[in-house]
Amino acid sequence: MKIALLGYGTVGSGVVEVINSNKESIEKRAGKAIDIKYVLDLREFPGEAINELIVHDFSTILEDDEIEIVAEAMGGVEPAYTFAKSSLLKGKSYVTSNKELVALHGAELLEIARKNKVNFLFEASVGGGIPIIRPLNQSLTADEIYEITGILNGTTNFILTKMKNEGRSFESVLKEAQELGYAEKNPAADVEGYDACRKIAILASLAFGEHVSFEDIPTEGITQISSEDMIYAEKMNYVIKLLATCQKQDGSVFARVSPMMISKEHPLAMVNDVFNAIFVKGNVIGDVMFYGKGAGKLPTASAVVADIVDAAKHSGTNIITFWSREKIDLKDKDEVKV
Ligand code: HSE
Repeated sequence: MKIALLGYGTVGSGVVEVINSNKESIEKRAGKAIDIKYVLDLREFPGEAINELIVHDFSTILEDDEIEIVAEAMGGVEPAYTFAKSSLLKGKSYVTSNKELVALHGAELLEIARKNKVNFLFEASVGGGIPIIRPLNQSLTADEIYEITGILNGTTNFILTKMKNEGRSFESVLKEAQELGYAEKNPAADVEGYDACRKIAILASLAFGEHVSFEDIPTEGITQISSEDMIYAEKMNYVIKLLATCQKQDGSVFARVSPMMISKEHPLAMVNDVFNAIFVKGNVIGDVMFYGKGAGKLPTASAVVADIVDAAKHSGTNIITFWSREKIDLKDKDEVKV
């Protein structure tokens, strides 16, 4: 099976690395050979093997009937949206780590994928390498999910952890997170909570089966958190975490992203550095928690490649069906308990 990769940045280069290093087991799991035929990037990489695969024009990929899966690791709504829509309409599955794209256009792209009997998959869009989209979509289907609460942004968790443990300033830790490749190109998306907001909108839509618009979710980031806040929280036996939550009560849904004080005993209080954790509450299973590296090259690439394997295995059938274009009206809630 021939695939094309869009973007050879941090995550894109990780995808190539993972496919090359684990080729044998990946192909065994997919039940077929998986070959990257093109890599779309604006740049050239002289002297590197990847350069032979580089193309600059998306139409080369779109018009090549041999390409069955397009994997995107570019970020940003455009041109990703145009690439996704045209790929799906052409009968190619589309795999992405792009949460902006999924939060804004996920419902529509899933509908197009269903009509064209291909797949639109986005495991890497939430929680980096943590499996959460697949469990919600395939493993927890017996349950009515009534709450998802998590630490969904690695950069802010990294910043809060270092501010607390090392007494460092917000700016110096943010710089380190950027150097480590965790932060978004525009780190305001991390520190203002917008990234976590898009991620909880995706999870809420998948959990409740109808579209939750990220624009409706009250969102506050961590820019106002000071070292003094950290010290006070510590004295009271609390830690400060940026939490994203969506909850369903008596048929009403509400969601929020904001820094919250949680007891040191709470499992989310022990989630540090770039790790993410996601608590899911279902009416049959009870509480389930997912934990792992929420950002970074290889963890995110791991989720992208897992989607490529799934798309290769399930060509002709739709994997994600429970997220319609019907929109959920979120209710206001003054006090959110987690
Ligand atoms: N900037 C994001 C984060 C990357 O820090 O979690 C992963 O989505």
